[in-house]
Amino acid sequence: MKFGPFVATPLRTALLFLSAATIVCGQQPFQTLLVGVDHRSVTSLNGDWHYLVDQAPAQALYAANGAINDKTYALNEHPNIIGRHNQEYNFATAPTIHVPGDWNTQVPQLFNYEGVLWYQRDFHFEPRINTRTFLHVGAANYRSHVWVNQKRVCDHEGGYTPFDCEVTGALHSGSNFVVIAVDSTRLRDGIPSVGIDWFNYGGLTREVSLVTLPEQFIDDYDIHIAHGSHFDPAAAITGYIHVVDAHADTAVTIRIPELSAETTVSTDAEGMARFSLHPASLTLWSPDSPKLYKVEMISGEDHLSDDIGFRDIRVDETRILLNGKAIFLQGANMHAEAPVRGGRANSDEDAHILFGWLKDLHANFVRLAHYPHDERMLREADHDGILVWSEIPNWQEISFGKPEVYGKAQTLLREMIRRDRNKASVILWSVSNETPNNTERTKFLSDLANEARHLDPTRLITSAIIGPRIENMKAVNNDPLCDALDVIGQNEYVGWYTLTPEEADGIQWVFPQKPVIMSEFGAEAKAGNHGVVNQRWTEEQQVYVFEHQFAMLRKIPQLRGVAPWILMDFRSPTRNIPKLQDGYNRKGLVAEDGTKKQAFFLLRKAYSERSIGKAE
Ligand code: GCU
Repeated sequence: MKFGPFVATPLRTALLFLSAATIVCGQQPFQTLLVGVDHRSVTSLNGDWHYLVDQAPAQALYAANGAINDKTYALNEHPNIIGRHNQEYNFATAPTIHVPGDWNTQVPQLFNYEGVLWYQRDFHFEPRINTRTFLHVGAANYRSHVWVNQKRVCDHEGGYTPFDCEVTGALHSGSNFVVIAVDSTRLRDGIPSVGIDWFNYGGLTREVSLVTLPEQFIDDYDIHIAHGSHFDPAAAITGYIHVVDAHADTAVTIRIPELSAETTVSTDAEGMARFSLHPASLTLWSPDSPKLYKVEMISGEDHLSDDIGFRDIRVDETRILLNGKAIFLQGANMHAEAPVRGGRANSDEDAHILFGWLKDLHANFVRLAHYPHDERMLREADHDGILVWSEIPNWQEISFGKPEVYGKAQTLLREMIRRDRNKASVILWSVSNETPNNTERTKFLSDLANEARHLDPTRLITSAIIGPRIENMKAVNNDPLCDALDVIGQNEYVGWYTLTPEEADGIQWVFPQKPVIMSEFGAEAKAGNHGVVNQRWTEEQQVYVFEHQFAMLRKIPQLRGVAPWILMDFRSPTRNIPKLQDGYNRKGLVAEDGTKKQAFFLLRKAYSERSIGKAE
C-alpha cells in the first residue's frame, strides 16, 4: 500500500481504509473508521463470547501459503454426532471469555499466550430499509480477521486503533453470528516490532458493536478554531464534515446551540462540506477551564453530535503557547493498564482512577505511552482539562528500511489522528519512541512527521529521543530527527540506567532551540521496600533520583514540560527480578494495586508549587 504525495481528502482516506480490505467475495465490503462512534446509538456486542485457541502454526486461520482460511472456524459449523466426519471444533460448547478484555488476565492458561484465538457469538438483528450497518471494533491486538455469517467482512493490522467494517450485505433478519480471529503474535515487521517493554495483551481489548446508519452518513469530521499564523482569540470555528455517498450539493448543517451558532453548507463531489462559524463569544478550552460545547452535525437522515473544546496550540521559538499564553507541562507517562484489576485498561472506571491520580498529582499533562489509548481516556482528558501527548508505537527497533512497514505506520498515524483530531486535550502527535539514530530511520520518521503535520496542521509534532551518551558531564541532543519536530521529547535515566543520582546535578544539556519535554526519567522502587537513598529498588532511592533530576531539569532553558516514567507500575515480560519486580516495571509513582509511593508525594508537592520548570 505504497502512497503517492498524500492529499488528506476524506474520500481518499476512506479509499485507503477500503483498499485495506480487499475481500474474496467480489463485492468489497466498505472498511472505514467512523469518527465520533462513541456518540452514536449502537447495538453493543460486548459480553461473553465463545473462544477457541488456534495454537501455532494456527492452521485453522492460516493456509500453508499464509493466506487466510475462510473455510474453517469462520463457517461456525458443528461436528456431526451421527453420520460422516466433518468438523473438529464447536464454538457452541466452547468456553466463553469477556469482550472487551484481553485473554491473558481472564484465562490463567492463556496468561503468557501469544498467538491466534478465535471469538464467536450469535446476535439477533432486524435489518431496516435504507440503512447500512457496520461492525465497530474499538481495538483488537494485533492482527484481526472478521466474518459475519461466514462472509469475511474485513481484516485489520494494529492493536491500538479502531476499525469499522460494513456488514450490511452479510446480515439477515433474525439470528446472525460473528466470528473474529485475533492473532497477537509480535512481528519483526510489525508496529510495534518484537522487543517491547510492556505486556502484549491479546484479544478484543476494546468494545465491539453494530452501528446502523442511513445510506448517506457522516464518517469523518474536523471541527477546530482556525489556525492562522498567529493566535487570534476571535478566530472562526472551521473545518469539514464528510458524508459518505452524498451527492454534490447535499446540505450539511453544523449547529452549536449554546453559542446560538449555526450554518448550512453543501458537499462537493467527494461528499466534503467545508464550513466556518463565527460565534459571538467562545470560552476557550484549557486545563483551568476545560469547556466543551455540544456540536450537532446534520445531513439528510444522519444526525450526529459531539462534545468538543476549542483551543489554540502552537510554539514560538522555545515556548509552547496554549491560547496565546506560554505554558509548562507537568504530568506523567501512562500505559493503558487497568489499575488494581490489571489487564488492558478499557473502562470508564479505569479512566476515572488513572486520571484521578493525575489530578491528585496536580498534573496538567499526560503522555499516553506508546500507542493510542482507549477513546475513553481522551474523553476523560477533555473533561478533566489534562493535555495529551498521543503516540504511535514506533518503539525502538522498527524495520525502518521497508516501504511496507512505512505503509503500516502511515495507516496507524491516520487512524490515530482521525479518531482523536476533535479532542481538545490532544496537543501533541508523537511518531516514535527511542529509535536508533540512522539515515533510514530519520527519513522514515521525518516523512511521517511531515505527514502528521499535513493531516493536522493545528497540532504539534513530536517524538521521544533516546538518551544521548553523556561525555564530560555534557548531554548533547543533536539528533537530526529533531529538525522535523515542533517539540523535542527527550528520554533519560540519569541516576538509574546511567551514572549516579547525584551526578545529575552537574549535567549540562544542549538542545536545538525548540521547546523540550523531558518525556521519560525516573527509577524503580518496589512499593513498601524501604532503605537508604543509595539502595536501589527502595522508595527512598526513587525519591532521591527525582530530587537530583529536579536540580538538573531546572537548568535547561528550553524545558517546557516533564513526564516522569511512569504513573503506575505495569507488567512487562522483561522485568524478572523476583520479590522486586515479579514481571512488573516498577518505575511507577503508584504501585499496580493503587499504593502511592513516596515519590508520588514528592512530585505532587513540586507540581503544586510549579517548581520544576518555567513556561518562558
Ligand atoms: C524506555 C522506554 C519505556 C521503558 C522505559 C524503562 O525508555 O521508552 O518504554 O519502559 O524506558 O526502561 O523503564
